[in-house]
Amino acid sequence: MFRLIIKFIRLKLSCGFLFEIMVFLRWPWWGGKPDEDKEMIINPTYNLRLVGDMTDSRGFHALRGVTVASTLTAFDHRMFFDLLLSAAKCKGNPRKEKAFLALVPPFIIEMMEYTDILIDREIAPKAVKYMGRLEMPPASISVERAVGAFEKPAGRADYVVGKHFYLQRDNTIPVEIVELMGNVMNNKNFDFCNVFDMEPSILWCVDPCTDFISPFHLSDAQADIVSGLLQGTFPLNDISNELFEMLKEVEVLVTDAGFKARRAAHEKCMADNKAFLVANEYVVVKSSFNLLHAAWQRHYLKALVTGGYFMPSDVQVPNRQFIHNEPYCNFLHHMQVRELNKLLPEVVSPSFSFLANYYAGSDLEKHIDREQCEWNVSMPMDIFPNVDVENAWPIYVQTDIDDDNSIVELNMGIGDVAVYRGTKLYHWRERMGHGRYANICFFHYVNGEFKGSLA
Ligand SMILES: [Fe+2]
Repeated sequence: MFRLIIKFIRLKLSCGFLFEIMVFLRWPWWGGKPDEDKEMIINPTYNLRLVGDMTDSRGFHALRGVTVASTLTAFDHRMFFDLLLSAAKCKGNPRKEKAFLALVPPFIIEMMEYTDILIDREIAPKAVKYMGRLEMPPASISVERAVGAFEKPAGRADYVVGKHFYLQRDNTIPVEIVELMGNVMNNKNFDFCNVFDMEPSILWCVDPCTDFISPFHLSDAQADIVSGLLQGTFPLNDISNELFEMLKEVEVLVTDAGFKARRAAHEKCMADNKAFLVANEYVVVKSSFNLLHAAWQRHYLKALVTGGYFMPSDVQVPNRQFIHNEPYCNFLHHMQVRELNKLLPEVVSPSFSFLANYYAGSDLEKHIDREQCEWNVSMPMDIFPNVDVENAWPIYVQTDIDDDNSIVELNMGIGDVAVYRGTKLYHWRERMGHGRYANICFFHYVNGEFKGSLA
């Protein structure tokens, strides 16, 4: 009995509502026993999230545990789904995992082993997480600059060390980044470790105009140099040409004139975009990412695709895969809200993000969106083959449904975004041709007063 009480307390502390599930189902109060010869853990790539309103339908995706779909069909029960959701929430926390497994009935343990949700630590795959690198990316993921205002034509002697970057050499995230993320995410529980590969050393760069955060892994030699730059002990002339170019790109090295010109260009661009958006309820905003961030972001997306992270089918759109509220996209989603609120005529907050791969044969029918998508930001994050902006897969918006002359074609390169009022402007994409591929993330926002579901 004493053991049972302890289990209840641990469960209540670690898994929350699972306690109510067990009571509701009156399942036997003995825990399942994973294979004792192996150290079984919840698969680091396993994930499960709600899509839509659970009261009338359920959607989900599972990372590399796709067979869970058929298992769910066999055990089609709301509480069973909640239990699998609890497993996803316990993932990566040994204490929570142990408490969870101690109370799960044996047949569920069996099912979890069968579907690789529960897996031997020795053979468990590593979860894919985002992180850039401070080196020239492979040509297959490089991104071309579309905005002249960010060019850096000055000579090497004009550069000085900038002020908007932070170096992390151990497991402690710089307090400036935590504070910035705290403000941006408005969520103290935001877990860096779920989004970024936190292996030190990390260079955290902050865009001085937008406050966008770009992290990069550094080699030990690079970290020594950046540390020397911060302390004023490493001469700029001793930096190799290749690293000098990288440090310019991420604005660790800046020129005074270039910095002022960049800020002035950004403010003018924002003012022009705002005027256009207020008049038309749509606008295309050129990318604010540095090239390295955009390139490594592209690399990350490829890793998600090859890692099987995408829901493999989509009933709404043919030849499309998707991830609802993908963790890194959620980071971008919340990070861009401050800039978005400078553009829009009303204050908005994030509802959900939707990351989608489109293959040949995909299209998007003309439609307007549900209320969770009052304002939309559509961002191509990867395009194949590499094409110039004019030949990218465009989205069409129609500002007046009764007037075909009000149809506008919006073209975007990687990292550019289309901002439009989704609940009012009809929008669509035409069928994608053979040999093409596009990865697009949709970031949806609601009016700050919105009270409904954000899923
Ligand atoms: Fe839409």
